[in-house]
Amino acid sequence: MKHIIANWKMNKTKEEALSFVQKLSFFLETNNYNKCNISIAPPFVHLPVLYNTNNSFNLIAQNVSVENFGAFTGEVSAAMLKDYVKHVIVGHSERRKYFNETNELLYKKIKILLENSLCPVFCFGESIHARNKGDYLDFIERQLEDVIMLFSQNELSNILLAYEPVWAIGSGSSANELQINEVHTFVRDLIEKKYGSMYAEKIPILYGGSCNSDNTSIILRQPNVDGLLIGGASLSNDHFHQIIQLANSLD
Ligand code: PGA
Repeated sequence: MKHIIANWKMNKTKEEALSFVQKLSFFLETNNYNKCNISIAPPFVHLPVLYNTNNSFNLIAQNVSVENFGAFTGEVSAAMLKDYVKHVIVGHSERRKYFNETNELLYKKIKILLENSLCPVFCFGESIHARNKGDYLDFIERQLEDVIMLFSQNELSNILLAYEPVWAIGSGSSANELQINEVHTFVRDLIEKKYGSMYAEKIPILYGGSCNSDNTSIILRQPNVDGLLIGGASLSNDHFHQIIQLANSLD
């Protein structure tokens, strides 16, 4: 089963969101896409609206507060989200960059999600600087060790990973299959070393960064890729439907 997640980021008004999901639901209901697990991560404010219209795909939250409740203006807690979603994106590079989210904070966010029976989709990936310097695998290892590898085997089985090289996000060109393979294999090996092969085989590792209908098939054909996290190309029904169609046609 491939995970196909649309990360809308801060895009779409309520009307646009409703129109999108109406078309998507029709598309999913008239085709039998049983090899993909489709999810949409809209802005928070649309979650209740879309929740009430939908049953053909999952909803995902783009962020969560590190606190459970209280005087934290503008924040949304895991306890509030769990009425609408089962998964929450954590550690997206835009949150790390624009909102100074550190590995320490991300660890706390994941902890609070797991305590609320929610599944984190943990994003990690190297900067262009680390890629050019050549120490990107060390960079990635640190990101994983400082956050998800602090959790137990049991907790890890509720976490999805998404490799998102920062230099590929929104750039129009994704990492190539060699680069994706190298990192995904490296990450699975790391998990295997600490948690054993049973857990390593099961943990979904998605790829994100300029996915589109031209590169979907080649990326999803890589042995250690379990799905896609899609930004820009998930905003248009046509592009998103094409990606689903391609993902579902793979063996
Ligand atoms: P992109 O974004 O597909 O627009 O590169 C992916 C992401 O940031 O999750």
